[in-house]
Amino acid sequence: MQNSARINAKITSVGHYVPDFVIDNKFFEGILDTSDEWITERTGIKERRWLTADKPTSFMAEKAIKQVLENRGIGPEDIDMIIVGTVTPDMIYPSTACLLQEKIGAKNIWGFDILAACSGFIFALINGVQFIQSGNFKKVLVVGADKMSAILNIQDRNSAILFGDAAGAVLLEPEEDKNEGILDWIMNIDGSGAKNLFQLGGGSLHPASHQTVDDRMHFVYQEGRTVFKDAVKGMADVSYDILEENNLKGKDVAWLVPHQANHRIITATAERMGLSMDKVMVNINKYGNTTAGTIPTCISEYWQAGKVNKGDYLVLSSFGAGYTWGSVLLKWSY
Ligand code: ACO
Repeated sequence: MQNSARINAKITSVGHYVPDFVIDNKFFEGILDTSDEWITERTGIKERRWLTADKPTSFMAEKAIKQVLENRGIGPEDIDMIIVGTVTPDMIYPSTACLLQEKIGAKNIWGFDILAACSGFIFALINGVQFIQSGNFKKVLVVGADKMSAILNIQDRNSAILFGDAAGAVLLEPEEDKNEGILDWIMNIDGSGAKNLFQLGGGSLHPASHQTVDDRMHFVYQEGRTVFKDAVKGMADVSYDILEENNLKGKDVAWLVPHQANHRIITATAERMGLSMDKVMVNINKYGNTTAGTIPTCISEYWQAGKVNKGDYLVLSSFGAGYTWGSVLLKWSY
């Protein structure tokens, strides 16, 4: 979707939070028929972080937002809007955006949650861009946060080993130069993939009951092999296409920021774009798949390490439950 708006949006601050509690692969050897070797080889994950049972997703998101505000040198009173990508809201309702507004002490703002699983952050980001481009919003917080440990079926070796908890956030602000900030995006949904990756229980189709609990319907379920194949194609295609649409080559890109679901999916995407792995942000080894948290957490960590510089072209890309997938091209502005 080429940008025809008068105003661009740019990221002007980043922040993230990961819990202290580390779960290594050995932990699963004690409870499941699996091994550190299998998990490392097939996924690239060595360890992940889990938040303690008494704390919700908004706990991590609040910490990430506070870092964003501090890095930008502004307070909660300066924020116009909060958009949160998550599949693990504190409650079904009210939205986590509402809870965060109250927690951080922002006033007179608008906000809502976006449900797009692993694409939650980029879907939220592009929503935020629209509000900046409307000219009516000047400072939009975009959050990707998930406490996946809350919805893990610990008895299922196909999925339990994959996920971790994390939150990341960015601030969007207006940019008048059309060659700066968020330059282009491609977003897709396809519900024919819904049967391959879902959490069945707790919605209006299967409201919570003894039966849904007994049948373990309140946890993540995925057909790993099918999702893997679809994710490799979806993420690689959309990452390649955004370069093509903008007459760019792999050599022009400073960083690919891929959703961190499986190291093999990340490698396939980089290959398709003609990128060497030293230009790919990776933290799946440390945190596993943190769903909406992966992309903003990567950007924040790499930025804090001084590895993201003004003028760098970044491609963010993701694939997740829905199916939902997409890519974003941006030029880093600070
Ligand atoms: N330890 C040991 N063996 C395992 C494990 C495990 N943890 N998990 C699966 N296996 C076994 C399977 O049972 C199977 O055994 P079988 O051949 O006897 O049936 C064998 O390993 C191969 O299984 P596959 O599913 O083909 O393994 P694969 O190499 O595909 O890896 C994985 C599985 C890691 C789940 C991979 O398919 C994957 O990463 N899928 C995509 C995940 C993804 O992108 N999700 C989207 C985002 S998530 C979201 O939106 C919420």
